[in-house]
Amino acid sequence: MTTKRICISGSGLHTPPESVSNDELVATYNTWATAQNAAHTAEIAAGTVQAIPLSSSEFIVKASGIESRHTVNRAGVVDPDFMRPRIRTRTNDEPSLMCEMGLAAARQSLADARRKAAEVDAVFVACSNLQRPYPALAVELQHYLGAGGFGFDMNVACASAAFGVQTAVNAVAGGSARSALVVSPEICTGHLNFRNRDCHFIFGDAATALLVEPVETARGEAPFEILGTRLLTQFSNNIRNNFGFLNACETEPRAWDDKLFVQQGRKVFKEVVPIASALIVEHLADLGIEPQQVKRFWLHQANLSMNHLIVKRVLGRAATEQEAPVILNEYANTSSAGSVIAFHKYHRDLKPGDIGVLCAFGAGYSAGCIVMRRM
Ligand code: COA
Repeated sequence: MTTKRICISGSGLHTPPESVSNDELVATYNTWATAQNAAHTAEIAAGTVQAIPLSSSEFIVKASGIESRHTVNRAGVVDPDFMRPRIRTRTNDEPSLMCEMGLAAARQSLADARRKAAEVDAVFVACSNLQRPYPALAVELQHYLGAGGFGFDMNVACASAAFGVQTAVNAVAGGSARSALVVSPEICTGHLNFRNRDCHFIFGDAATALLVEPVETARGEAPFEILGTRLLTQFSNNIRNNFGFLNACETEPRAWDDKLFVQQGRKVFKEVVPIASALIVEHLADLGIEPQQVKRFWLHQANLSMNHLIVKRVLGRAATEQEAPVILNEYANTSSAGSVIAFHKYHRDLKPGDIGVLCAFGAGYSAGCIVMRRM
């Protein structure tokens, strides 16, 4: 950190209006699985094909805390013959879907910060899945928004927004931007295998945006000074997506489901809880802040029990829902957008001087912690 004091001066959230409940999702999956099993009755009886097990809403809520998810296209997701969002192919002259979602969130964050797009000198699109390799979505967004300066895309999976904030802090503190936008549009349902019972329920779609600028220029209603940012990465194959531009060149063609999200959920749970909690504890200690001083934790929203455990390790006791707000019940895992949705929805009630911690973690592994104080 430089000596220049930096803050988050505005936030924005775009929530796709359509959503799918657990019951609707499970009904679709079970219709598909039952039809598959019926089509292979003889092979299943002979033991040459394994019957596809059915899913259940009770399991989903108990294992994850997720009750529903927003999606860019409900009809495609609940169609047992399609089971993924159906997205209209756009021409190159139209804004891409991710750009459109990011724009809605970005405009809201600028209004919240009482800033104009022309006052933004850097746009970072920080998310798990980018719609195309180039031109960068950030440059497209910069164009449609009317921002100046420069932009680039960055992908650090679910921790992307935290990495984006550190990048924005560096740009503003270093003087290369007066203010910088971190935009996280996530269409997670596009990379979700809705035919995999172990994970068909875990993702949803949303877009978030945060504006970062110097404390001295902030004029939004509820700015938060950034006291410190800390990032961490540690290689793991337990969350992986093999989709990429070399797929078509590979000597052994990959199956369709090897080009979607896969994870070892149990291992992820076990390994990421200590990584995230230690990151928060050590970061707070280095800033001279006692965990008990923290009024709010805006955590990545992947699994409710995981979040309970992380905060318990930090505080030495269970957190109240007010201390660690939950949005995954409505949104499911929206990857990099999750912790920012929690921040966006639950920060205005904090009082000047109150401390909050945003912590995001995910594939890579990657984790990022931002310690803030309400101005
Ligand atoms: N419906 C009913 N039963 C199901 C099911 C479903 N949809 N999915 C799995 N099961 C069964 C399993 O087959 C297993 O049965 P068994 O005990 O007979 O073998 C049992 O339920 C437990 O499955 P498991 O996968 O071990 O569940 P879990 O408690 O680990 O919960 C996750 C699964 C994915 C919710 C959980 O592991 C998780 O959230 N992990 C963290 C993931 C994460 O943070 N990822 C980050 C992504 S960015």
